[in-house]
Amino acid sequence: MRIDVVSIFPEYLAPLELSLIGKARQDGLLELNVHDLRTFTTDKHRTVDDTPYGGGAGMVMKAEPWAQALESVAAAREGSRPVLIVPSPAGEKFNQALAYELAEEEQLVFACGRYEGIDERVIDWAQEHFTVRPVSLGDYVLNGGEVAVLAMVEAIGRLLPGVVGNPESLVEESHSDGLLEYPVYTKPSAWREHDVPPILLSGNHGKIAQWRRHEQFRRTAERRPDLMEGFDAGVLSRADRQALADLGYDVVDGRLKARPGGDIEN
Ligand code: ADE
Repeated sequence: MRIDVVSIFPEYLAPLELSLIGKARQDGLLELNVHDLRTFTTDKHRTVDDTPYGGGAGMVMKAEPWAQALESVAAAREGSRPVLIVPSPAGEKFNQALAYELAEEEQLVFACGRYEGIDERVIDWAQEHFTVRPVSLGDYVLNGGEVAVLAMVEAIGRLLPGVVGNPESLVEESHSDGLLEYPVYTKPSAWREHDVPPILLSGNHGKIAQWRRHEQFRRTAERRPDLMEGFDAGVLSRADRQALADLGYDVVDGRLKARPGGDIEN
């Protein structure tokens, strides 16, 4: 995969040289280029922003430097249609499913806005060259897209073949099956009055798998009830359904439904 990031703060992206993503770049699994938007300006002051039409607070990023930068990165791979991701609190929400989808692309381009955002005409114009997707990390406001890009590139990059050493670790993590991950423990089994759940020391792999599944349901119901309602009940075993009934969830039309007045046990 090739990733291009355009920003007025290229140094902000330095952490992408570290750890798994840094290693993936060294190993040639990921080609990642960071571009300074100011190199695509033509005036003496390398201006990238101006006041908003219609008035209001703050500054808006000018269209032409963005068009120059995006044309330059699009030309790097002629014939393909890269996905242009515009981090913005006004975008669709980023999640694991989108990370998997984007990990299939040949080229991703990230446009890091600052100030009040980028002149909207850039988004319209860019559709000639790119599949454009404004994407939000969540319902809060950052100062710019750079931190969002760090998060998204890490989430996408670790899904590329060969980046995570043991691909099995991708299977059982939070959100891979629409649920939160079960809790994990390591030695010693007794620590400061806190014992590891005895089932994990039993050696009974069937029972352990069932317990972990139950913990996934319990955690998700407690912390993220929104994920429970969207869960596809078609994949549930009889033991799963019993565990869910104990947690106050019934299966209605192939979906989980919280029983009115149902409560979380234990
Ligand atoms: N830029 C500013 N806030 C953001 C957010 N919540 N997600 C993505 N990009 C952003």
